[in-house]
Amino acid sequence: MDFVKEMRAKAKSMRKRLVLPEGTEPRTVRAARILVDEGLAASVTLLGKEGDIEKVAAEAGIKLDGVGVVNPASESIVEEYAHEYHELRKHKGMTGEQAKIEIVDPLRWGAMMVRLGAADASVAGAENTTGDVLRAGLAIIGTVPGLKTASSCFVMSNLDPQWGKDGALVFSDCAVIPDPTAEQLADIAESAAQSCREFLGAEPVVALLSFSTRGSAKHDNVAKVQAAVELLRARKPNFVFDGELQADAALVPSVTDKKAPGSPVRGKVNTLIFPDLGAGNIGYKLVQRLGRAEAFGPFLQGFAKPVSDLSRGASVDDIVTTAAVTLSRVK
Ligand code: ACO
Repeated sequence: MDFVKEMRAKAKSMRKRLVLPEGTEPRTVRAARILVDEGLAASVTLLGKEGDIEKVAAEAGIKLDGVGVVNPASESIVEEYAHEYHELRKHKGMTGEQAKIEIVDPLRWGAMMVRLGAADASVAGAENTTGDVLRAGLAIIGTVPGLKTASSCFVMSNLDPQWGKDGALVFSDCAVIPDPTAEQLADIAESAAQSCREFLGAEPVVALLSFSTRGSAKHDNVAKVQAAVELLRARKPNFVFDGELQADAALVPSVTDKKAPGSPVRGKVNTLIFPDLGAGNIGYKLVQRLGRAEAFGPFLQGFAKPVSDLSRGASVDDIVTTAAVTLSRVK
């Protein structure tokens, strides 16, 4: 599976509207040019002062024709955006004046554009931290109705075709929640199942991983995964899942037969849920480095509308790919 090629083709066919809040960040400006030139978005809007963005573009030798530029502070709709933001945050003690000041921050403005339908998706993080991107998204876009948790996933591809969908699997959560509760773990499983549909184009078969299989070990960490599985069962989601399973019991049919006979995920797992961020983050990096898989992500999941975070070390190409992936998720 050529994940990048597939996501770019999907974005191109959908032609949705993208906002890039970090409009004065040089790699972001270059990415905007490519996204417009390659027709990966119907429109691309950079946020920031016009003069600052033009200066960055001129220094990089990039023309801005066809790229939108919006300076939140000078927009006539600032009152409308501030009002909406105040409504969302007043229960936390935010005043109207505070809302007016805070909403012109590009991360929040970009999130508000997505919330109010002025853009379909937002991508940031080339110069802001993951925490800042997440907090803006959580405060303004919020989570999918019915889920309380935003999390992340990686698409691991180029593995032996016997694994997952033609050698591609979804790993989750590898980047957001350090120590999820059982309820958060169940939310992560639901979001990852949706990511599997969107990214792999496959019906999700989900394994909730642990260092125990069906009660073979007793520990708080095991009990948490067991509780998450019970919660999922009660929710009756529309995907196949099982847990708690060790990784070999989840993936290798002969081991499944010994440790978890009758498991509905036997030989079909394409989505792995890790019990905590330590396991997830280490797990994806081991598979990437020792298993020579390609790792794409982290992609945020569980948000009501598409929003993505970038590594601050992201290349121009990484930004273009993340933008394409994010645009491809627009409903
Ligand atoms: N899903 C839904 N809501 C959340 C979540 C979540 N995952 N996390 C926090 N919230 C809510 C809080 O309840 C709070 O809501 P409220 O303001 O309405 O009360 C709001 O978001 C802000 O919460 P804070 O307490 O300010 O944020 P917190 O300190 O909990 O941090 C954050 C949340 C930013 C998501 C944090 O977990 C984080 O930084 N995670 C990233 C971990 C990391 O560093 N990953 C990068 C390394 S791995 C890699 O990139 C490959």
